[in-house]
Amino acid sequence: SAILNLWSVPLVSFSPLFNTSTSPTDIRLMWHPLSSQHSRGAVTRYRIEYSTLDQVDSVFSVEVGGNETQFTLRELQPNQVYRLRIAAGTVVGFGVPSEWAQHQTLALYNHMVFAPTELKVRARVNTLNVTWHPSPNHTLVSGYKLSCREMEAEDSTNGERTTQTHTIRLRKKARYHLLTGLVPDRQYEVKVWAFNKQIEGAAAVWKEGQTRLQDVRFISSMSLPMRPPPLPPSSIRATANSSTSIWLCWEKPRFSNVRIINYTVRCSPAGTTNASLVSYHTSSAQEILLGALKPFTRYELAVQSNGVGVVGPFSGTVEESTLPDRPSTPPEELQLSALDSSSVLVSWRPPLEPNGIIVSYKILYSGNLSQPEHMWENLFQDGKITSVEVEGLSSDTRYFFKLGASTEVGAGPYSPVKDVHMPHQQYELDIHAVTGIIVGVCLGLICILLCMCFSFRNGKSR
Ligand SMILES: *[C@@H]1O[C@H](CO)[C@@H](O)[C@H](O)[C@H]1NC(C)=O
Ligand SMILES: *[C@@H]1O[C@H](CO)[C@@H](O)[C@H](O)[C@H]1NC(C)=O
Ligand SMILES: *[C@@H]1O[C@H](CO)[C@@H](O)[C@H](O)[C@H]1NC(C)=O
Ligand SMILES: *[C@@H]1O[C@H](CO)[C@@H](O)[C@H](O)[C@H]1NC(C)=O
Ligand SMILES: *[C@@H]1O[C@H](CO)[C@@H](O)[C@H](O)[C@H]1NC(C)=O
Ligand SMILES: *[C@@H]1O[C@H](CO)[C@@H](O)[C@H](O)[C@H]1NC(C)=O
Ligand SMILES: *[C@@H]1O[C@H](CO)[C@@H](O)[C@H](O)[C@H]1NC(C)=O
Repeated sequence: SAILNLWSVPLVSFSPLFNTSTSPTDIRLMWHPLSSQHSRGAVTRYRIEYSTLDQVDSVFSVEVGGNETQFTLRELQPNQVYRLRIAAGTVVGFGVPSEWAQHQTLALYNHMVFAPTELKVRARVNTLNVTWHPSPNHTLVSGYKLSCREMEAEDSTNGERTTQTHTIRLRKKARYHLLTGLVPDRQYEVKVWAFNKQIEGAAAVWKEGQTRLQDVRFISSMSLPMRPPPLPPSSIRATANSSTSIWLCWEKPRFSNVRIINYTVRCSPAGTTNASLVSYHTSSAQEILLGALKPFTRYELAVQSNGVGVVGPFSGTVEESTLPDRPSTPPEELQLSALDSSSVLVSWRPPLEPNGIIVSYKILYSGNLSQPEHMWENLFQDGKITSVEVEGLSSDTRYFFKLGASTEVGAGPYSPVKDVHMPHQQYELDIHAVTGIIVGVCLGLICILLCMCFSFRNGKSR
């Protein structure tokens, strides 16, 4: 059968013709049928053999029917040089194949879908907002793909850390995508490309504000917003300097990979839940004098560090009370009620803004409103007491009263003047007069009765 074969296989080799393919993964080849003289019988099949130039040892082959004159090899690698040859076969076997011919597949790059333009990445602590403009071949595109890969640090060359690439498919209309849950202060590479059914477009890769077609690292640590927030300051100390100011000082956080520009101080009355009572102050030094505070009030203070474009968390709170002051308002609700013609009950409520602990109240009263204050009668009362009986007043007289409160620092303002009219002693005098009259009348009646008795007796004895 070996001899038969020799005589039966096609004799003359022939060359394949290549036709320009539309896809970078296809090669379409054509050939002319052999003349019957060369074919030495009916050609029943053709065999196409091919390999890449890089790997000549791994040769693939396909067979096609003898009636065919063209064939398309598919699923090849783009931008690769392939070598191919073809042999014709009869029922007996294959003849001598053609010479190897070379053909290069198209590069994806040259192909239709261009990279998106104007790729920008806005970096935050753990998010990247990726924005782009459509690729110039937008109508050919069925969507976009975005990949994000954490780059390994330059020094960790031991292959222990494996980085994962996440590829996300996005709609054709997509113009931005927010990558979340990223690790702060890490390098990320972000690529965006368009794709359609046949092809993946060229990728745009972000690097420091420029779009590039080639893979270029985007080094996020160079962009400051990706920096982690600075730690709060340490050793915060608060000292009350006056009744309205607290002096606060602190030290730089011991570790900081961010340059601190200034500090924000939060100040609020202790235990307040009213947000409008919370105030914020900025200081570029490591101290601040907080003013315009309320006297004798406990404040909660906290400090945060600020870098460029990044704000750290607040420290724990420190408490300090402002110093006491004189009361800023007078006692409230002064009331006077005459108990009799010479005594008055004076009562009041403590001031609304005592600015400290009330140690005493001073009650001033006078029957003459135009008299200077130092000439008024005065009376001191303990700070815990809110009523007193004033005695020894003249009846039927108008008295004017006012009172003020004092803390250990000094006296506050006096309340507005109130007056009371002491009743007349008339009522008591009348009782005496009536008693006198009754006694007088009784005595008179007794005298008359005695006289009548005597004159009656004298008249009988006569
Ligand atoms: C070759 O023959 C096969 C099977 O008979 C047929 O399906 C195919 O269409 C033919 N091709 C050509 C180009 O005639
Ligand atoms: C889009 O791709 C086609 C190839 O199909 C090319 O001819 C055309 O120039 C591209 N469009 C643009 C705007 O570059
Ligand atoms: C991301 O950028 C787009 C386009 O500028 C904007 O519309 C979107 O609000 C941004 N998203 C965030 C979370 O910043
Ligand atoms: C406030 O008090 C602190 C500590 O007592 C002192 O160092 C600082 O100079 C005072 N500041 C003012 C403005 O009085
Ligand atoms: C919060 O404080 C402001 C300013 O002192 C005050 O006007 C407001 O009534 C307070 N709100 C509440 C709910 O206490
Ligand atoms: C504090 O620093 C921030 C961030 O650099 C800056 O925006 C701000 O204007 C600064 N504030 C003051 C009062 O200097
Ligand atoms: C009231 O006091 C003023 C000032 O001391 C004095 O001039 C006036 O005479 C006094 N009036 C009476 C009624 O005592």
